[in-house]
Amino acid sequence: MKPKVLITRPTPQNILARVGAGCEVDSNQEDRPLTRDEIMTRLDGCAGILCHLTDRIDSSVMERAPSLKVIANVAVGYDNIDVASATRLGIMVTNTPDVLTDTTADFAFALLLATARRLVEADQFVRTGQWKEWRFDLLLGTDVHHSTLGIIGLGRIGSAVARRGRGFGMKILYSMPQRADVEVERELGATYVDQATLLSESDFVSVHAPLKAETRHLIGARELALMKPSAILINTARGPVVDETALVEALQSGRIAGAGLDVFEQEPRVHPELVEFPNVVLAPHIASASRQTRLRMMEVAAENLIAGVCGGVPPNVVNREVAERNSKPA
Ligand code: DGY
Repeated sequence: MKPKVLITRPTPQNILARVGAGCEVDSNQEDRPLTRDEIMTRLDGCAGILCHLTDRIDSSVMERAPSLKVIANVAVGYDNIDVASATRLGIMVTNTPDVLTDTTADFAFALLLATARRLVEADQFVRTGQWKEWRFDLLLGTDVHHSTLGIIGLGRIGSAVARRGRGFGMKILYSMPQRADVEVERELGATYVDQATLLSESDFVSVHAPLKAETRHLIGARELALMKPSAILINTARGPVVDETALVEALQSGRIAGAGLDVFEQEPRVHPELVEFPNVVLAPHIASASRQTRLRMMEVAAENLIAGVCGGVPPNVVNREVAERNSKPA
């Protein structure tokens, strides 16, 4: 009998066919997230689930699915899944790293450029017929090239953003709990500093820390107060890493000069004040959303799912101890 799997969102035909070759697939065809109750009901008898960051898979969902072996998230971040409970229950959790690194870094840089050079304001200015004459001081922005870029979290995506910064002749600072290898620092031309130094010396601060208990509100009022009044904050990581209320206050008081945000604390809700600031560029969590990358993410998640339900070790298991425990002879 084929193992049963649940796919929570509409999925390309080739991926469905690939999974369907080895599994009995229950796939949500409606263009809306399944509710928690629907997930619980439909997980009955499933060995695997292919899910997205809008699907909260917590311990009570997992406990209702005793045959579950693998949770394959279609994202690099997996803060929507209670990994500790999954590990306790012997369920593997997988993500989709690498394939979205450059696409996400491109978008972080796009936000940085758009905010610095006031691209969205400029677009609106032209579209709404406000452009009556060329002016020397029209929509003055701030220079990106040869400025200082502070990267909080020099992982895969942070490093890819650093490479882009190098191309713009930027000085690269980074902070994170553990210093990177000297080789990595050399390749990226990145200097390790403590977070306070990074915040006070950078013209652009780009956040690339995963969301965990320790990184919730990593950037709050105290951190924002350390930034230069001319500095711009970019967040393509997870909304709750930045305290949105503190960010609004910092923007209101001119403590910082602007922000480029792809992620928010209560998605899809955006703090009502944020939409009022002309110096804030907003996007609906699309940093990895190129056609090519979203397809690759699906392919990688499907490979993880298939390996997990078929008794193998998925290539991108994040709680490897479960895979190791499962593969030990009884
Ligand atoms: C991720 O992969 O974690 C992104 O935020 C969604 O694509």
